[in-house]
Amino acid sequence: MRKSVVLITGAGGEIGHALVTGLAASDASIITLDVAPLGAALAPLVRREFTGSITDVSLLERMLAEFEVECVFHLAALLSTRAEFTPVTAHRVNVEGTINLLEFAQRQGESHGRPVVFLYPSSIAAYGIPDLETKTRAGRVAEDAFTHPTTMYGCNKLYCEELGRYYARHYKQLSVDASPHVDFRSVRFPGLISASTVPSGGTSDYAPEMIHAAAKGEAYECFVRPDTTIPFMAMPDASNALRQLAAAPRARLTRTAYNAGGFSRSAEEIREVVLAAFPAATITYKIDRKRQGIVDSWPADVDDSAARADWGFAPAYDFNRAFLEYLIPSIGSSYHRP
Ligand code: SER
Repeated sequence: MRKSVVLITGAGGEIGHALVTGLAASDASIITLDVAPLGAALAPLVRREFTGSITDVSLLERMLAEFEVECVFHLAALLSTRAEFTPVTAHRVNVEGTINLLEFAQRQGESHGRPVVFLYPSSIAAYGIPDLETKTRAGRVAEDAFTHPTTMYGCNKLYCEELGRYYARHYKQLSVDASPHVDFRSVRFPGLISASTVPSGGTSDYAPEMIHAAAKGEAYECFVRPDTTIPFMAMPDASNALRQLAAAPRARLTRTAYNAGGFSRSAEEIREVVLAAFPAATITYKIDRKRQGIVDSWPADVDDSAARADWGFAPAYDFNRAFLEYLIPSIGSSYHRP
């Protein structure tokens, strides 16, 4: 008999850290797939760790043969800044990797006769707002507005949301003996900030980098203007949102992709709260025109009323709580500073 498990791809990444830890604490049986071996903190929490690429179909087939996967959290991706340097590789990983996982989930669902719940973190990068004046005027942007991303990563995320909807609703619609077996659910996350890990290759990274640098006593040059504003979310809220959406009754869900907001603040407001916590820190600005252009195309805030109504999304951390009760105390202790 195959063993029933939850699969997490990209488990060693930022969201993966929080999710593996949270799911393991609730006694879930977890298998993981990541290009790099899991660190010492995560490895003991999982039942089996596969090291390899989501583009390796034979590896996915081996997992399929051995395990009965009830739920997939497909986190593996190349983020927005990194993807602009290697767009074809990003497409391969972000899009081909995702269709491989969707096919995998469909096969799993067919073999155990129930839909596989498939969680997919999408992003505010799925939006593309043409200019700053429109961004200011747009305010809180709803899911179906301004979906014209300017980055390869954003295109990949938006398309994979649609691909997921296809697998969930229309898969092989002309075939008499096929039906969808993937219960696809996606959250469009804002910039995420974790106390225990630093991101790599994202464009919202200036906020987490600023606070981690300050905690380590390193100077930091912020690569966007002081007035740059996008929404951010504390990592525990992101991991909880994925778990909450996974557990929501299917009948309550009116969409396959949901906005989820947190706190919308400017780079300068974040700098000020970091400086108040770490008065010796040096945080200056050195604008990267191209990365600035990407962040300027993302909304200043999102309308997440559908997520709140359909599956009870309610982030615990506003701006003050995120910094004063989560980020600053935890980061301070992880770098052994007061
Ligand atoms: N934080 C991501 C990035 O900057 C967006 O999802 O690429």
